[in-house]
Amino acid sequence: DFTGCGYQDLLRLSPGRWLYPRLYMKYADKLYNFEFKQSDVLVMTYPKCGTTWVQEVVWTMLNNPDLKHSKTHQPIMYRSPFLELDMFTDLAEDGLEGVMIKLLETTPDPRTIKTHLPLSLMPSSLLNTTKVVYVARNPKDVVTSYYHHCRITKLVNYKSSLEQFVRYFVDDNVVYGPYWLHVKEAWEKRQHPNLHFLFYEDLKTDTMAELGKLNDFLGTMLTENQLERVAIHTSFDEMKTRKALLGEMEDDPNKFNLDIISLDGGFFRKGDIGDWQTKLTPPMEDKINKWIEDNLNEIGITFKFSN
Ligand code: A3P
Repeated sequence: DFTGCGYQDLLRLSPGRWLYPRLYMKYADKLYNFEFKQSDVLVMTYPKCGTTWVQEVVWTMLNNPDLKHSKTHQPIMYRSPFLELDMFTDLAEDGLEGVMIKLLETTPDPRTIKTHLPLSLMPSSLLNTTKVVYVARNPKDVVTSYYHHCRITKLVNYKSSLEQFVRYFVDDNVVYGPYWLHVKEAWEKRQHPNLHFLFYEDLKTDTMAELGKLNDFLGTMLTENQLERVAIHTSFDEMKTRKALLGEMEDDPNKFNLDIISLDGGFFRKGDIGDWQTKLTPPMEDKINKWIEDNLNEIGITFKFSN
């Protein structure tokens, strides 16, 4: 019932709902019953909303505020595991089952875990046990960034146009869609003491204030000085220079790298608010505006679309 956005063998869980690789079904139970610990912090996002950035922020705040940890320059995936990675890999076919779930078991506490799964596919007790940092980003920048992602990721290898991608996006035919449902589930829980709702745009424009809020939420009690250093260490320019951030580790047989090409800036493409203005044509913008209008008011959320 969909063509997908370059990903192969997708499955829609139920009408109007989540679109995932078929392999998800193999792990659905494990994921739904995943035993989170009280000390875990789950970074939850729809793709391209600033996941990697916030993973680096949270991991650094929890483990490395003085930037002295021996793992500082290790790939993010090894320090902050990607909960449902197995549904994208064929590693299981080589006889390795649930490699990421195994990595999670050996990750030292406190763990910073990444997921793009929505709240409704997490254990129902999640917020009773575990802190969740939900990151949202305005959908015009998300679609622009997601299109780029699907072009540079070898696994996806998207070859069609941006125009077509915008169509996929608003029709909920991209992996992890629907976008609005994802955001809505978290927005509705934004008052929950264990959920911190964070906007990409706020973190970008008022980094120190947002790091201060995270400091309170995580209970990390970092000094202003430490927070300032975290801000610099996790800034776009700094992260872009850390080449190994998305790479694989040499001695790792599983090779969890994203396998991306460096086209148009690679993973660290632009890192800004409003770059969609240079990419979306007026007809694409019209299409997206209509879709936003239809959804935004119902949810009652406000986004910043430009600087
Ligand atoms: P752009 O494609 O707009 O540049 P995710 O980690 O969820 O896949 O999100 C990727 C997006 O976050 C990309 O957006 C990337 O450039 C941006 N990003 C990554 N690190 C960032 C940082 N330190 N500051 C701002 N944006 C960052």
